[in-house]
Amino acid sequence: MIDTSDIKIKRTSNSRLQETDFSDLPFGKIFSDHMFIADYEDGEWKNFQIVPYGDLTFSPAISALHYGQAFFEGLKAYKQENGDVVMFRPYKNAERFNKSAERMCMPSLPEDLFVQSIAALVEVDKDWIPTAPQTSLYIRPFMFATDEYLGVQPSTTYKFMVLACPVGAYFSKPLKVKIETKYSRSSEGGFGFAKAAGNYAGSLYPAQQALKEGFDQIIWTDGRDHSYIEELGAANVMFIIDGKLVTPSTRDTILKGITRDTILTLANKWGIPVDERRVSVAEILEGLKNGQVAEAFGVGTAATITSIASIGYEGELYELPDPATAGFSSRALKTLNEIRYGQAPDEFEWNYKID
Ligand code: PLP
Ligand code: COI
Repeated sequence: MIDTSDIKIKRTSNSRLQETDFSDLPFGKIFSDHMFIADYEDGEWKNFQIVPYGDLTFSPAISALHYGQAFFEGLKAYKQENGDVVMFRPYKNAERFNKSAERMCMPSLPEDLFVQSIAALVEVDKDWIPTAPQTSLYIRPFMFATDEYLGVQPSTTYKFMVLACPVGAYFSKPLKVKIETKYSRSSEGGFGFAKAAGNYAGSLYPAQQALKEGFDQIIWTDGRDHSYIEELGAANVMFIIDGKLVTPSTRDTILKGITRDTILTLANKWGIPVDERRVSVAEILEGLKNGQVAEAFGVGTAATITSIASIGYEGELYELPDPATAGFSSRALKTLNEIRYGQAPDEFEWNYKID
């Protein structure tokens, strides 16, 4: 059994901390001083290391580059008012990491090892956790195949790595989204539920087309006939309809978001009726026309809770009520932030404290 005390730490002698402008944190462009790296070889995980952030050298034939055997996770660490450093629900990411690994025919990682590896990196780079409201350290664990072989088969060697980025908001304003009726992100029997790199690669062209039409994001629909709402490209989607919190039930075409689960738990606690079911496009359009849809928003780790301002469908644009008046989503965001920053009790034990 692997012990995280086996992690070798090589600290940088050239920290970039002082030259980093924490008042301007574009998402995913600024990396902390260190990264975590481990190798999978001969059927086991080994060589656990924290090293200065930097380039790696590979064969151009590694299978991740050719056949996309690669997936990732995303979670955040916060510095609380009393100085405690916490990660938000990391064991949920560990669980989903292994679901993605299984579907992509890649090795699993013991959940404790996943969490402890990340905790060790966050501990080393804890000065990189920003403290301004809405900021955090975004953590990107990922795995990719490293066999030098052009045959199509599962690799026998892999790397597990973790990067960390101080971040602010992923979306800077309420979104104008398009309900997609031509392209699909995933299909039944596919791997939409996995955080596989290929899911994101396939979404880029449709997203670019939507951008040309003036939309910020796509609401994906089912791959069979585009009649049911699934999710956004980087977040799950929720609606407040007639006072109920309505969200598509998860299935193998949808990523089972941890933020989604968190918001549903809060809604249940607050006694707000929750409806997890198939949500048809027709129902949403009807609700937008007759004013029953009071709020629409995306929920995700990077996205936190992002309001949707308008929804386009086949040439028509439907405006939602002003997000500034949104009751549920602003309450949920405020509560979540209070829990994460240690300003409200963490009654569901979502924060994992790093000692
Ligand atoms: N759906 C997709 C496609 C995503 O990339 C994400 C982001 O991780 C989510 C949903 C939301 O998941 P989570 O709340 O676990 O971050
Ligand atoms: C996350 O929220 O962690 C995501 O994975 C979204 C991302 C693709 C930026």
